[in-house]
Amino acid sequence: MKSIVAGGSAPDVFARRESEARSYCRSFPVTFTSARNARMTDENGRSYIDFLAGCSSLNYGHNDPDMKAALIAHLERDGIAHGLDMRTDAKAAFLETFERTILEPRGMEHRVQFTGPTGANAVEAALKLARKVTGRSNVIAFTNGFHGVTQGALAATGNRHHRGAANGPLTSVTRMPYDGYMGEGTDGLAMIERMLEDGSSGIDAPAAFIVEPVQGEGGLNAASAEWLRGIQRLARAHGALFIVDDIQAGCGRTGSFFSFEGMSIEPDLVTMAKSLSGFGLPMAVLLVRPEHDIWAPAEHNGTFRGNNHAFVTARVALEKFWSDQAFQVLVESRGTYLAERLATIAETIPGAVLKGRGMMRGIDMGSGEIAADICATCFENGLIIETSGADDEVVKVLAPLTIEAETFARGLDILQAAVGARMQAPRAA
Ligand SMILES: Cc1ncc(COP(=O)(O)O)c(C=O)c1O
Repeated sequence: MKSIVAGGSAPDVFARRESEARSYCRSFPVTFTSARNARMTDENGRSYIDFLAGCSSLNYGHNDPDMKAALIAHLERDGIAHGLDMRTDAKAAFLETFERTILEPRGMEHRVQFTGPTGANAVEAALKLARKVTGRSNVIAFTNGFHGVTQGALAATGNRHHRGAANGPLTSVTRMPYDGYMGEGTDGLAMIERMLEDGSSGIDAPAAFIVEPVQGEGGLNAASAEWLRGIQRLARAHGALFIVDDIQAGCGRTGSFFSFEGMSIEPDLVTMAKSLSGFGLPMAVLLVRPEHDIWAPAEHNGTFRGNNHAFVTARVALEKFWSDQAFQVLVESRGTYLAERLATIAETIPGAVLKGRGMMRGIDMGSGEIAADICATCFENGLIIETSGADDEVVKVLAPLTIEAETFARGLDILQAAVGARMQAPRAA
C-alpha cells in the first residue's frame, strides 16, 4: 500500500521529504486523521483497532474526553503552555496529585525530577545521577534491555540494530544476563554475584543496575519478583543504585501503576515517560530517593521540562484512573482475558512461547518473518499491531488499557485469524 497525502493524487510527501529514519509509517502506510480510544481512522474513513497504543504512550486510549476537556479549558484561558522549570499552577496541581494518588499511598518519598520530555532523557538523567552519587562510571545493564537511543541510554541498550547507528564508543556499561536468559537450570543471579565479588573478574564496581521489570522492546521478557529482589540486593551490597526503567511497563501497563508493585522492590531511581501525560503529550520524569537528589541547580536541564499541557492531562489521568483501585482491577481482568486468548492462539503455532505480563503480552512466533507476515495480515484486516524482540519475533499486544471489551475481542479475533492463515499457508518457505 502506498501512502497518499490528503487531497488525493499528489506525490507522497512522506517518501519525498521525511527522513529514512521513519519506521512505523512503513508498517502502516496510510494517513491517519483522527482517533478515539482504541480506534484510529485514516483519510479514507477506514477504521483500525489500535493494538500499538503509541507504543504504550496511550494507555488511556486516544483523546480521552476528560483530559481533552481539561486541556481545551487550559488553552481557552491562556494557561501557561511552556514554562521551562518555573512554578506554574498546572505543575503544582500535577505534583500534588502525583503525591496524593501515587507516591504517598505507596510509601514513596521520592522527589520528582522533570527531565527533557523523552524516555531517553530520563534515562540519561538516571545514569548521570547514579554516577554522580557514587563517583563510579560502570553501569550494569541487561541482555535485551532497551533504554532509548541517545548515546548514554544507547550504551545500556542491547539491540544491535540501534547500537550500530552510534558509530562511536558506547562505553561504561557492563552487560549481564536478564532473568531466564541462560535457560532453565542456570542461575544467572549467582553468576552476576560471583563476577561482582571476584576482584579479578574484570567488572568495575558499578554505579548502578538499570533494569526493566518487563522488557518492552526486548521481547516481553518478564523478570520474576525473586530475580528483581536479587538484583536489588546485589546493588545494595555493592554500593550501587538500583534503577527501574518503567517507561514502557509503568502507568498501569502491567496492572498496577508501577510494574514492580507487590514485589518488595524499592528502587533508588525510577524513570517514567510514555503514558505519564496520559494523552500522548511529551513528558518524562525521574523519581529520585531524597538522599540521592544531589544535583546542583540546572546541572541536568532541558528547555522542554515544563510542558504544562502535559501536566494538565497527566493530572486528570491520575485523578480519573488512580484515585482508587477500580482501574487496576479492570486492567488485571483484561490482562487475564488477554492471556487466555493468546494461550488459545499459541496452541496452533508449533513451538510458540507466551510472553509478558498484564496488558503487555505477546507470542514468540519463533521467527521474525512469521511475526511480520502476521502483523501485515492483521493490518490488511484493520488491526494495528507490532513486533518486538531481538529478531522482531514476538507479536506484541499493547492495546489501550481502556479498550472496550468488544473491540478488544474483535482485535484478538483478527490476530487469531491472521495466525491461522499463516500457519495453514506459509508465505515464506
Ligand atoms: C523501557 C524504555 N526505556 C526507554 C525508552 C526510550 O523512550 P523514548 O523513545 O521516549 O526516548 C523506551 C522506548 O521505547 C523504553 O521502552
